[in-house]
Amino acid sequence: MPQYSVLILHGPNLNLLGLREPEVYGSTTLEQVNTLLQEEGNRLQVKTSCLQSNHEGVLIDAIHQARDKHQGIIINAGAYTHTSVALRDAIAAIQIPTVEVHLSNIYRREEFRHHSYIAPIAIGQISGFGAMSYILGLQALVNYLRKANHDE
Ligand code: DQA
Repeated sequence: MPQYSVLILHGPNLNLLGLREPEVYGSTTLEQVNTLLQEEGNRLQVKTSCLQSNHEGVLIDAIHQARDKHQGIIINAGAYTHTSVALRDAIAAIQIPTVEVHLSNIYRREEFRHHSYIAPIAIGQISGFGAMSYILGLQALVNYLRKANHDE
């Protein structure tokens, strides 16, 4: 029986991973990222459920529904990171520990990417390690949940 269930949310344009600006985002596809997460989840004994959407409202609905289903969230909100107060408010409302991840190092890129609406309400942020950012995010989240629940 997996110990925790973790929701992994991918925001706009991440369905194009592998094709999209590979010099920035790498050649790993979204499907491959999700498989890597599932494998790491198996190793850590947690269940991973992945959802990608190009629509802000779909992501917000998924965050609301996470309340009864998941104990943690990993989110790469894509460009919504830099624009969406609504996504931030949704995460703040449900109070599920959330880790923000980015494939690219957003602080080495254009200035408009330097600000994240999500970072202040996330337990932490991992940025710049390609697909590995998600794996590091999952490890950090599970470690956080185990500590918070005195499971170790
Ligand atoms: C991104 C960084 C964002 O600035 C960008 O809009 C994305 C992807 C990343 O994973 O590096 O869509 O979140």
